[in-house]
Amino acid sequence: MNQPSHTGVPLRLRSDAWYSGSDRDAFLHRAWSRRGLPADAFDGRPQIALVNTASDFTPCNAHLDEVARYVRDGVHESGGIALNLPTVSLGETLVRPTSMLWRNLAAMAAEELMRANPIDAVVLLGGCDKTIPALLMAAASVDLPALVVPGGPMLTGTFRGQALGCGTDVWRLSEEVRSGALSEADFRAAESSMIRSRGHCNTMGTASTMGLMAAALGMVPPGLAGTPAPDSRLLSGANAAGRLILDVLAADRRPSQVITRASFHNAIVTLSAIGGSTNAVVHLLALAGRLGVPLSLADFDEIGAEVPLLVNLQPAGRHLMEDFHRAGGLAAVLDEVRDLLDPTAITVTGRTLVEEIGDAQIWDEDVIRRRATPLQPAAGIAVLFGSLAPAGAVIKPAAASPHLLTHRGPAVVFDSIEDFHARIDDPQLPVTPDSVLILRGCGPRGYPGMPEVSNMPLPSRLLAQGVRDMVRICDGRMSGTAYGTVVLHVAPEAAAGGPLALVRTGDMIVLDVPGRRIDVEVDPAQWAARQPSEAMLAACANPQRGWQRLYVDHVGGAETGVDLDFLRGSSGDAVGRPSH
Ligand code: FES
Repeated sequence: MNQPSHTGVPLRLRSDAWYSGSDRDAFLHRAWSRRGLPADAFDGRPQIALVNTASDFTPCNAHLDEVARYVRDGVHESGGIALNLPTVSLGETLVRPTSMLWRNLAAMAAEELMRANPIDAVVLLGGCDKTIPALLMAAASVDLPALVVPGGPMLTGTFRGQALGCGTDVWRLSEEVRSGALSEADFRAAESSMIRSRGHCNTMGTASTMGLMAAALGMVPPGLAGTPAPDSRLLSGANAAGRLILDVLAADRRPSQVITRASFHNAIVTLSAIGGSTNAVVHLLALAGRLGVPLSLADFDEIGAEVPLLVNLQPAGRHLMEDFHRAGGLAAVLDEVRDLLDPTAITVTGRTLVEEIGDAQIWDEDVIRRRATPLQPAAGIAVLFGSLAPAGAVIKPAAASPHLLTHRGPAVVFDSIEDFHARIDDPQLPVTPDSVLILRGCGPRGYPGMPEVSNMPLPSRLLAQGVRDMVRICDGRMSGTAYGTVVLHVAPEAAAGGPLALVRTGDMIVLDVPGRRIDVEVDPAQWAARQPSEAMLAACANPQRGWQRLYVDHVGGAETGVDLDFLRGSSGDAVGRPSH
């Protein structure tokens, strides 16, 4: 009989398959694992894995080893045994060609490690853009009791008395250098002022968004998501999370019970209210695919489009995550949209997300707006369909220029990001402020990996004329910290036979965000006679071995979350055959 948990609930432990009994294998497993653990470590004490993406190559997650120590303390205080499980880590800024190429690899590695080892429950530690999505996908597919401890955002950087948001201000400053408004020396000087502390990007970019999405889905201990990385409350929250995971295990509360259709509803409402990253669309679709929860691209529009933007953070607004936390954080936002949330969705505590809002308050009404004074009245992610995107495309109206949301203009087409860089400042390029810049071959299969190249820099000569936004269309993604009138995730992608491959420079493109349409106006007979751009096909990757070969052979489209076909669904936590 195992020990009761600290809550008094008797536990049946998966790790018993390794540690209980007196046979040779149990001896082997216990003897090799002791290494200073308490003498009763394997006598029915729950084995909790701290699935940890700390890495010096993922600077945003480099502090997670310290956070893990506080989780470990909490686990031990509640009678469990905490064990560090380092796993694949992906740093957004360094990994080439794009960290998205390895999100599924990171998810697969974490899933298999969780299943292969004597683990009863997991605490997932992530921060940088892909790490929390990969860990959630892994936990969903192995379906062990789990919770997420997000690493938290960095503090606000400042340069010459002004706040600098990482990501968003990089794009702004680099455009100012190209337009001649900022010297290269000043640009370099700003570089050392931007990243002021540990933690992930401090805008409402993908990392901030996914930490809050994990919370809206119910997978984060209430109140923890969005706590700045250097804030001591993150460490005390990590300790509490270490205690809580024993309760989650005792209740046998698994991701498949917490993350339901109702949770996705709440996540989409939250995504709109916070002005979150478009990358959340692909990550949530992939997660739903792991759990078998019906979720489509259209759901993001239907559930989220009319939700007001309440959070005044870059890139849609002005402030940064440190301000968001000071102003009341996620609970304060959820309180404002309480009536739009599904009250049935639970969290890792067993109580509902709505119950966990408690008596949250807004402490700064410029940072977190009231429903009566939103930053934008209806600012969810818009999903477009049309002759250019039969399977869908997305745009974030909150980050776009209102005057461009309805636009008709001639295409200027680029067959690769290299082609774009080579020609965008060519004086002969037939580009005007009305042109529609199109970049293709940047989808999951074509690049490969669907990089964040869609927010193409504008031509220097138009920047010098004061143009600051143009309609841009791409089958890739956009950084969650970026802004502009950019149509993303065009599906099917050009390399998979999508109509984007047939567009030519000069074709008339019609964007109608209010009507949810993206179309190309070409004579149907002419269109039917066209072949995919050979230059685009030549530029697309054709890897011959390794992960990249596996990836291009099996990756799905943006409209289903860019997961591998054989990774959708769940394999559960079944214990494997003996190793000896
Ligand atoms: Fe890691 Fe932005 S680069 S969160």
